[in-house]
Amino acid sequence: MSACCTLTLALTFYACQKKNQSATCSTCHPLADSMMVVSARHEASEVGLQIMLDGGNAFDAAIAVHFALAVVYPQAGNIGGGGFMIAHTQYDENICLDFRETAPLAAYEKMYLHPDGTVQQRASLLGGLACGVPGSVHGMFELHRKYGSKSWYELLQPAIHWAENGFVLTSLDVEEINAVRHELDSINGMNVFTSRRWKEGDTLRQPDLARTLILIAHNPSCFYKGAIADTLIAAVNNSGGILQKDDLLAYRSVWRKPIEISFLNYRIITMPPPGSGGLALAQILSWLEMTHVQNYKHHSASYIQLIAELEKRAYADRSMFLGDPDFIQIPLSELLSKEYLSNRLEMFPVHQVTPSTSILPGEISFHEHEQTTHFSIVDAFGNAVSLTTTINSAYGSRLIVNGAGFIMNNEMDDFSVKPGEKNQFGLLGGKANRIQANKRMLSSMTPVVVLKDNNPVMVIGSPGGATIITTVLQNLLNVLVFNMGMQESVNQPRFHHQWMPDVLFLEPAWEEWAVLVDSLRRMGYTIQFRSPIGRVSAIVKTPGGKWEGGADTRGDNVACGR
Ligand code: DON
Repeated sequence: MSACCTLTLALTFYACQKKNQSATCSTCHPLADSMMVVSARHEASEVGLQIMLDGGNAFDAAIAVHFALAVVYPQAGNIGGGGFMIAHTQYDENICLDFRETAPLAAYEKMYLHPDGTVQQRASLLGGLACGVPGSVHGMFELHRKYGSKSWYELLQPAIHWAENGFVLTSLDVEEINAVRHELDSINGMNVFTSRRWKEGDTLRQPDLARTLILIAHNPSCFYKGAIADTLIAAVNNSGGILQKDDLLAYRSVWRKPIEISFLNYRIITMPPPGSGGLALAQILSWLEMTHVQNYKHHSASYIQLIAELEKRAYADRSMFLGDPDFIQIPLSELLSKEYLSNRLEMFPVHQVTPSTSILPGEISFHEHEQTTHFSIVDAFGNAVSLTTTINSAYGSRLIVNGAGFIMNNEMDDFSVKPGEKNQFGLLGGKANRIQANKRMLSSMTPVVVLKDNNPVMVIGSPGGATIITTVLQNLLNVLVFNMGMQESVNQPRFHHQWMPDVLFLEPAWEEWAVLVDSLRRMGYTIQFRSPIGRVSAIVKTPGGKWEGGADTRGDNVACGR
């Protein structure tokens, strides 16, 4: 990359930063002719758009956005975590990259249990022992190797810029730092995030992270071997972890075959195991086609009931059958077969409310030997990228790698630490998702690309732990069945059922729909109002042929298009 080019990029991003004190910007158009990025932050969306305006493709933009989010959205954006990508390429391939974390080689099934078999509270959530082996840097480099068109070095420059010069904190950022301030302090001592009492509008600079990103820009393998690797291992192990050099040396992201199903006139491309969202989504959408969802009134009590009942069945299957496909056999085609799905519908009449305790996972005979962030991108070449990345909780394990400035994940909590024990999202798991060395923990991340006549027409995903799947589902239905625009869909109130607990969760906005909520209670649901669900970043092709962004106001999400 020439010096001139470096300078241009730096000036562009500095200009945007100055302009964007209020998170609005002349490039942030939610309606576009040819290219668009929707992400959790305006800085990151602008970075991605600029990369494409400079001739890059959606994969270049995705790499630059991923690194930018590691800086400007440190509660979830990361280099110390992992993620999933689903994409449709301009050459009509549907592809899937799994750069999920793995359990360290020294990990074992009962590592979070006391000798008497009880669970060590929060051991899989806080500090070094909670950390999986991070996959993000490997994943982004692998993506670049196969699909990137711009130089790796160039794609990291925006992130380095934001780390060196700082970004302006929103009120949500300040709220989210304050929520974990105590733990960040007790695990790390003095640190960049809690060095002062932040207020909205303050600028957060991350010089240690900038130096780490400069090293990665020159040589990404130093994250897994050499300077950064050594610092990372020391930090994790000084905080009670079990990471070894071989863990980092052994890490590999994996190209997988996506799950693909037809739904009405569309083709849904989504995440296979170790994601659970793709299977659940595919099961529920197939059931909805069988039950003619298009005949229901949107957000009527019977519509919500139908979906909640189907969600219970899909989450029950998740708990039983899903885990890392490199470790267990998963009867994926059986779980998606018309025969299995229609039998399961007959066994449980969905027009009644079935208590979750009487819904067991389906029977298949086979031999078994809330922080994340999502961005969606489309380019002018015909590529569409849907990428969800995570360190699990907000600020992950709260462990900041000393001197390197990045936050480590607490993804180990996504394993089933003990049969019947819930994880932080209340999700149950069993043998299929037990801890084993080098295994990937089951995830709910559900990146989706929707095709019509083999062309991308929708790109969507969300954070939200267990609620990711149901958030993505509802938005797919809003758009594909009820013909809403993308922003209109994202603005709709959300509900969620995950089988266990047997509770129908509603966002606060439903409180205004008292009659409906009352009907649901009378049907037999236990209703619980909860905090906002998900933060969707999505794009849809409008009937007029434009791209429309849906940027969730539950977060600071922004759509930038041209
Ligand atoms: O992979 C998973 O399913 C979780 N680690 C995702 C966590 C998450 O979405 C938290 N966000 N709000």
